[in-house]
Amino acid sequence: MARDDVDRRIGARSFARLLGDWRPPGGRGLTAALADRVRLLVLDGRLPLQIRVPAERELAVALDVSRTTVAAAYEALREAGILNSRRGAGSWTQLPPGITASGVSSPFSPHGDRTLFDLAHASLAAPATELRAAAAVAVEDLDAHLGGHGYDLLGLPVLRAAIARRFTARGLPTTADQVLVTAGGQAAISLVLAALVTPGDRVLVEHPTYPNALDAVHARGARCVPVPLDLDTPGADAWDLDLVTSAVRDAAPRLAYLVPDHQNPTGALLDGAGRERLVALARRTGTPLLIDETLAELTFVGPGEAPVATHGAPDSALVITVGSAAKVLWGGLRIGWIRTAAPTIRRLAALRAATDLGGPVLEQLIAARLIDDLEPVVLARRAELAAARDHLVGRLGNAFPSWRPSHPTGGLSLWVDLGAPVSSRLVGAARRQGVLLAAGPRFGLAGAFERYLRVPYTLRHDRVEPALERLVTAWHTLDEAHIETEPVAVA
Ligand SMILES: Cc1ncc(COP(=O)(O)O)c(C=O)c1O
Repeated sequence: MARDDVDRRIGARSFARLLGDWRPPGGRGLTAALADRVRLLVLDGRLPLQIRVPAERELAVALDVSRTTVAAAYEALREAGILNSRRGAGSWTQLPPGITASGVSSPFSPHGDRTLFDLAHASLAAPATELRAAAAVAVEDLDAHLGGHGYDLLGLPVLRAAIARRFTARGLPTTADQVLVTAGGQAAISLVLAALVTPGDRVLVEHPTYPNALDAVHARGARCVPVPLDLDTPGADAWDLDLVTSAVRDAAPRLAYLVPDHQNPTGALLDGAGRERLVALARRTGTPLLIDETLAELTFVGPGEAPVATHGAPDSALVITVGSAAKVLWGGLRIGWIRTAAPTIRRLAALRAATDLGGPVLEQLIAARLIDDLEPVVLARRAELAAARDHLVGRLGNAFPSWRPSHPTGGLSLWVDLGAPVSSRLVGAARRQGVLLAAGPRFGLAGAFERYLRVPYTLRHDRVEPALERLVTAWHTLDEAHIETEPVAVA
């Protein structure tokens, strides 16, 4: 996009707020620290691309530093390709050459780069054997489709039926006409927002929550109404439903976006009673619930909770469930879905044409085969992830005794209380060691959660130890004044 096409800008005070606690302890190396923090904010998506940053003088005043410091930091950012300036017109954020935005939680996309440890994506490698087998059969299934045009706004009937059967098996009777297939869970969220939310509307969100959903709400021009989760009680009690109720009453949001199954990033799981209260609230107030079930199948204790819509709203348009094949199967399939009342599904399909005209047929055929025989994959994933969680909790306990990791009963990551507001600094230091992470504030609004870090347990077993060694090195580079206890070295 040409710079002249946009004039989105961030004011000096907002920029200063977003920068948070960026100053190095002791005040040494101000320029490098400022440049480092801006780089992190751009790379992890907290600072949008193509946004005009404040003039040097204004930022210097807002930060109470010299103009020379800001000028030198901007110059370093220009050299790093993070800022693009035009004399007399200002400076804009951009991604440096060679880095493409992945749109997940970090713009890094380290495909097969063995020198990088990617803990920014909480995602597993594909179940290769099952995926290869399903792909081989799907190529034969493809024959039946080659004579047609291949477009289907709703998704392939065979996949919609497979997804519906899976919902039914999980206790939520569902027919294929209640399902629309999308290009992943993120596309499902965006499509629902496009259908229900207009610019200026409010959308209730958990705080912290899944960052790309926050971005999707903002991209829609809507405002988030954050309801805090209780981070000290990461189980069902993480949700204060009285607070959710009063937020719905006071802010009258157009929609509530909730992740009740192993919530990203906290891992919290809402119990049946809580789900029932949510549906009752939706009915009482007419506020639709957008329930993100992306992590619902990855539960380690028992069968997990029944889907929210089972609690008295199996056919209601007030509960819109989105799901994804990305976490239980593979992100590379780019298959997600929306489940709600059939008339709403038809409306969403019509709206979808403005964005895309359906999904790739072969991937849908592969997904249909995999979802029809999901149980063995799910059981293997659960066992693998529970062991990986225990291993990581143990190793973090040894390496960082002052950290307090959560102990989720499912999902893909730990939410770690670092004991000090150093998450962004740690993520910057870790990146220099080749470890990619998403800082706590990426999961919140207005710079919240600087004391927290999300650490996925999705790395291959043999990569965990070297990643932790690098993380320990990164932790050591932070100033001790910010850190209560010294970490011990990883063996
Ligand atoms: C809670 C949640 N919703 C949605 C998504 C996006 O899923 P997909 O990769 O299918 O777009 C993710 C992926 O990390 C997620 O964690």
